[in-house]
Amino acid sequence: MIIASNLKTNLTREKTISYIKDVENFIQKISSNQEVFVFPAMSSLNSQASRIIQGAQNAYATNNGAFTGEIGVEQLEEFGIKTILLGHSERRHILGETQTEIVKKFNFYKNLGFKIIYCVGEPLEVREQGTNMMMKYLELQYEGVDTKYKNLIIAYEPVWAIGTGLTPTLEDISNIHLKLKEKSNAALLYGGSVKANTAKDILACNGVDGVLVGSGALDVKNFCNMIQTAQNIDTNN
Ligand code: PGA
Repeated sequence: MIIASNLKTNLTREKTISYIKDVENFIQKISSNQEVFVFPAMSSLNSQASRIIQGAQNAYATNNGAFTGEIGVEQLEEFGIKTILLGHSERRHILGETQTEIVKKFNFYKNLGFKIIYCVGEPLEVREQGTNMMMKYLELQYEGVDTKYKNLIIAYEPVWAIGTGLTPTLEDISNIHLKLKEKSNAALLYGGSVKANTAKDILACNGVDGVLVGSGALDVKNFCNMIQTAQNIDTNN
């Protein structure tokens, strides 16, 4: 399974290095074969040798150049980063990234062979309009995206579930995942208020291939706990 930690704008460089070291030690201790990702803040990217895949939370579609406040391939390459998170709801809704801008980044990083974790998700007012409207909304977030790209992972993250402690029911998660799976064979993660004590049921849902976790993974013990949970599910299957 895929277990991913999105550290967002949290932890210092020093704390991130120690976080990754702790996860690495845990993975070794339990001989985990789960696919583990960590997305540190930009200033905490590091070329730490590790079994964990480190990814960028964002980057501009450029090698380098005059794009104040952004980083590009040159900066990612310094740390051997070949994985990027795109379309996250905080970038869409807080930073105002449009589908066109996201698709531009998608194509740029796809052409470089990056592993892309591409996020989709609907806001509450759309969810409240029923399943058809919600699926139509999600459909638009697939527009321009190569759903057959071999290094693609998709994350379904309802905007109203991110950082709120709210989650869809397990039945909803499963139903939506199965619908989204008709659009792409890529691995499909669930994200939005996953916690150490809810990961087990979510990971066991039909159509869920892993989780993308923010606040619930900030404490490294909780993140390790989720890796253990995924490992247990795999062992029992
Ligand atoms: P959350 O964030 O786990 O804090 O809800 C998830 C995400 O934004 O990827």
